[in-house]
Amino acid sequence: MSGYDSCVRVWAVATHATSLAQLKNGSSPDDPRGKSETMSFFRICHGSRVQFFFSPMSDNPPHKLIIAIDGPAGAGKSTIASRLARKLGYINLESGAMYRALGLKAIEWDVSFEDEPALVKLAHDSRIQLEPTLTGNRVLLDGRDVSERVREPDVTDAASRVSVHPKVREWMVARQQEMGAGGGIVMEGRDIGTKVFPDADVKIFLDADPVVREQRRLRQQNVRDASGGATAAELRERDRRDRTRAASPLVAAPDALILDSSSLSEDEVLQRVEEVVKNKIDL
Ligand code: DC
Repeated sequence: MSGYDSCVRVWAVATHATSLAQLKNGSSPDDPRGKSETMSFFRICHGSRVQFFFSPMSDNPPHKLIIAIDGPAGAGKSTIASRLARKLGYINLESGAMYRALGLKAIEWDVSFEDEPALVKLAHDSRIQLEPTLTGNRVLLDGRDVSERVREPDVTDAASRVSVHPKVREWMVARQQEMGAGGGIVMEGRDIGTKVFPDADVKIFLDADPVVREQRRLRQQNVRDASGGATAAELRERDRRDRTRAASPLVAAPDALILDSSSLSEDEVLQRVEEVVKNKIDL
């Protein structure tokens, strides 16, 4: 296990009990206790004092849920997953960032998006790391911070293209299963509830009207006029590819709660998701 993995796993254990109590009591997502726990994760990981985390825990630790949030681009998954994870003291993993990192590597190494065996080899030879932070995942590719680069349009397109290959997906799914095996995780993507964790405790499929999703994406990227049309067209094309690919197309798991966020505020969506999570905690 790498130092990074150790940090992530023990952080979840250290924060879990407090945060579940917070959720049950209905305290705010910005509760300072949640923040200080989260900050201690960074401080201690960077200071390599990992032993601290293995302090005695309760004899009866709470069950750590696996929460899957799937849906198309622009539906608001990342924001909801990140806020929910903070509130619970869970880890938030953006599985799409792993496909983005591989897409970037394919661009840099000039590997064709159509060459499945070469892409699988590239994945095997790469070190792709996700570091949860307060504002989303930091993405490291072979130790290099590519968090911003992987959000650029060429990498966004590359991610969608490399993700169509079954063997690439197999590799990704296995890594994602390793990362989430211990629970205490909110993982978002396209196939989390169907393939990565078909037995997830909570499955949400977050959708929204395509026009609303396009507008959100344009606002997020601060895109205006001329390039706005291109961004919307790219989103539609990526949507089409993600939904129609043969391997694990984007579909809601039969047992997922389908939430249409078109006319809901972020707070309203979060509230609904929390209700589902609370029911699981109360079981
Ligand atoms: O969530 P995102 O926009 O960062 O995802 C980028 C691409 O990665 C997306 O177009 C499809 C692919 N992806 C996937 O196939 N399966 C996932 N679980 C997550 C992302």
